[in-house]
Amino acid sequence: MHEQTKEITRIILDAAKLARQETDAEPEPELTKRAKWPIECIVGPGLEGAIACETEIGYVNGSKGWLVYRGYDIFDLCAYSNYEEVSYLLVHGAMPTDGQLKEYKKKIFQYFHMPKTLRLLTHFPIEEMTPMAALRFGTSLMRQEFTTVDKVGLQSYGSGSKLISSDEDSIAMETKPRGEERAIYEFMKNDAAPASPWNPSGIEACYHLIAGVCALTASIARMRRGLSPVAPDPELSHSGNLLYMMTGKKPTPLEERIMDVSLILHADHGMNASTFASMVVASTLSDLYLSIGSGIAALTGPLHGGANEKVIEMLREIGGAGKVDAWFADAVEKKQKIMGFGHRVYKAYDPRARVLDPLADFMSRNNAESRGMYETAKKLEKLVVAKLGSAKKIFPNVDFYSGIVYHSMSISAELFTTLFAVSRVAGWTARVQEYLLNNRIFRPRALYVGQFNKKYVPIDDRA
Ligand code: CMC
Repeated sequence: MHEQTKEITRIILDAAKLARQETDAEPEPELTKRAKWPIECIVGPGLEGAIACETEIGYVNGSKGWLVYRGYDIFDLCAYSNYEEVSYLLVHGAMPTDGQLKEYKKKIFQYFHMPKTLRLLTHFPIEEMTPMAALRFGTSLMRQEFTTVDKVGLQSYGSGSKLISSDEDSIAMETKPRGEERAIYEFMKNDAAPASPWNPSGIEACYHLIAGVCALTASIARMRRGLSPVAPDPELSHSGNLLYMMTGKKPTPLEERIMDVSLILHADHGMNASTFASMVVASTLSDLYLSIGSGIAALTGPLHGGANEKVIEMLREIGGAGKVDAWFADAVEKKQKIMGFGHRVYKAYDPRARVLDPLADFMSRNNAESRGMYETAKKLEKLVVAKLGSAKKIFPNVDFYSGIVYHSMSISAELFTTLFAVSRVAGWTARVQEYLLNNRIFRPRALYVGQFNKKYVPIDDRA
């Protein structure tokens, strides 16, 4: 193993050791048992405390600061696994065998090729859209690869029908750099035509979306800079291909490993807003593409995944470690929410931040601007935790240090939330699949606090 990637594993194991010293090992009994519906729970505004379903996919212990995917501790997954295994685990429920992993990687690699989707996408002013808006739009275009669904409806196509894959033909893709002076373009054939009939909520759609959100994010990053999409490299991992398709340059083993850890950390997180949004849409028996589009929309907001971009804005606004005291005093005075802090579930240190903090420290050492941000962030964390840690249980969350890690890798801030989506699509698809096995449409109620018995007044008589 590469020396620097060994160092990353050591950093993760140290973070795990610290976390385990500070938390004990009892799951919350009331949140780790089968429901006997209907159940009673105390619900706060924003559905705080509401139990919406049972799951075997993941568990967040907010008071201890634990994160578990299908029984595996997040620290172990970060130290020893990789995003391909973790996404397979989330979607299928068990770690893959060697053969299963090879087959899965092959499928994902095939689905990275989306020539027609990308061709459609290039017809739109991607550089004028936010990357998350473009990503959401891109997943809708992916859905149109299987256009029969829109023409005849989900139920109407039988085994004999021939679905039209809009990726059957291809567009020019930039070739892999081989030292030529100019970019060469070649036609890439998509040989991943799906087995008919295509189920737009089935397991192939999960694979298609896990690959697609990655390929779209990378392509959007390039299109924003006026560059053509880059075809994936079969030799690279998921995280390696993400970076390669973004930059056109093979990532270093360190960059690949760091991105892989970040993808593992963001892959699933309970009934968060974007997962819930995906599940609500899927519960109407809409399809997976539209459900994941809703997840992307929900993730965009600064109270959720959009916070990672806002953290960098905030650190730039603060302008250096020496200015943190004054900035924080002003923020407290204005009762301002500090981006990258606080969580609905975690009332202890977020385990993802425990990993991302030392990774940001490690990665920022050779980048003066990132280093300045890291030092500012550490100072801010100290002040926020001193003031709000024990009083309000406010600690750094996953979004506080992730941006500094990405910034150290020269990734621009407006792409940060799309990287979150590249990872979380595994959790979204897994949870939608699980929920659909025992689907019941989500349909809560609101308390009506408006008026009754108002008399209708014709428009000409209104004041
Ligand atoms: N800075 C300062 N005070 C805070 C913060 C914060 N970031 N977050 C919560 N509080 C205070 C809040 O003012 C309130 O105080 P009081 O009881 O005196 O009114 C108390 O803590 C509870 O806050 P809340 O807004 O009711 O908490 P919530 O569970 O509704 O919101 C949250 C959770 C994550 C939206 C919120 O903490 C927040 O806005 N954080 C900043 C944005 C952010 O970092 N989001 C990323 C979340 S984690 C990753 C993800 O999901 O993408």
